[in-house]
Amino acid sequence: MSPAADAPNAIEVRDLTKVYRVFQKREGLAASLKSLFHREYKTVTAVGGVSFSIRQGEMVAFLGPNGAGKTTTLKLLSGLIYPTSGTATALGFTPWQREIAYRRRFSLVMGQKNQLWWDLPAQESFRLHEAIYHIEPDIFQRRLDELSDLLEVRKLVNQPVRELSLGERMRMELIAALLHSPDLLLLDEPTIGLDVVSQRKVQEFLKHYQREQQITVLLTSHYMKDVEALCERAVIINQGLIQHDGPLATIVGRFSQTKIIELQFASELPASTELERFGTVFDIKSPRLKLRIPRGEVAQTLTALLSRYEIEDVSVQDRPLEEVIAEVFQQEAAATH
Ligand SMILES: Nc1ncnc2c1ncn2[C@@H]1O[C@H](COP(=O)(O)OP(=O)(O)OP(=O)(O)O)[C@@H](O)[C@H]1O
Ligand SMILES: [Mg+2]
Repeated sequence: MSPAADAPNAIEVRDLTKVYRVFQKREGLAASLKSLFHREYKTVTAVGGVSFSIRQGEMVAFLGPNGAGKTTTLKLLSGLIYPTSGTATALGFTPWQREIAYRRRFSLVMGQKNQLWWDLPAQESFRLHEAIYHIEPDIFQRRLDELSDLLEVRKLVNQPVRELSLGERMRMELIAALLHSPDLLLLDEPTIGLDVVSQRKVQEFLKHYQREQQITVLLTSHYMKDVEALCERAVIINQGLIQHDGPLATIVGRFSQTKIIELQFASELPASTELERFGTVFDIKSPRLKLRIPRGEVAQTLTALLSRYEIEDVSVQDRPLEEVIAEVFQQEAAATH
């Protein structure tokens, strides 16, 4: 569900830039010795002047290939690092001023990082959050019960975290992140490495929770299934720059020049060579198959197919988001080289 068009902005980012200075170590002993005295640096522009805003209650996907600047942007929005230049406000705060009032209202979850105590039951880490965020004991207990029920891990909160599966641990991480009822949730690859079932559980939970609580969510993920399940809008970043920002449907429309027609024939499949005249034949599972055809030719191709063959069922689909996004990255990369 999208928030009202006039909802105030939860996040506003303007010309945000983060340049890292990285020490260059030369190969060879002489060069190593020299570099002890003359350190050589190169600069890496992780985020190169990005601007975007996100309305309160929106759930937006932040997409891009490896090294695009996604995690860096989320770290900036969490106040973990300072920008080189530019501004950002999140819930009215400047994140890197690290005000306690801001810390109480957002959460960052990083799928690649364990934020819970490894050797202790998750319950102990939750208690620590209760103290840090000054959560009232009865509210804490109610939220913990609710969240652990929703995520189906109630029985596991007393088990040391290291004994949990990756999927269970991730769900504990989400509980820890949500105990203090943040208004803004920054999710950096929350389903990375999870099996399909756990992935779906996390997706379903996030969808339900976001709808109920109307919180603002910015999500990075390499799994387009997450994005399709959860977000209507995507901001695409590549090499530190925003390449596209808009509804997912528009991205598919703008970048995908093809459509897929799925056909179910009443009897034997005609020869592929015969069908190749209409488009690229793939995914043949007799009596079904798929045809990839240019976007603008859907109507005429369908008419021709239906008049020529006995077809029981037909559907027209967009290409999978995964393919389209991969193509967007490739096109952008090709354009900049
Ligand atoms: N602490 C750092 N020091 C130097 N360079 C860094 C640092 N952190 C990130 N970078 C560089 O900045 C760029 C952006 O990194 P970032 O982690 O934001 O990418 P990402 O979009 O999250 O990628 P991924 O999808 O692989 O997680 C990369 O080139 C990375 O090597
Ligand atoms: Mg990252």
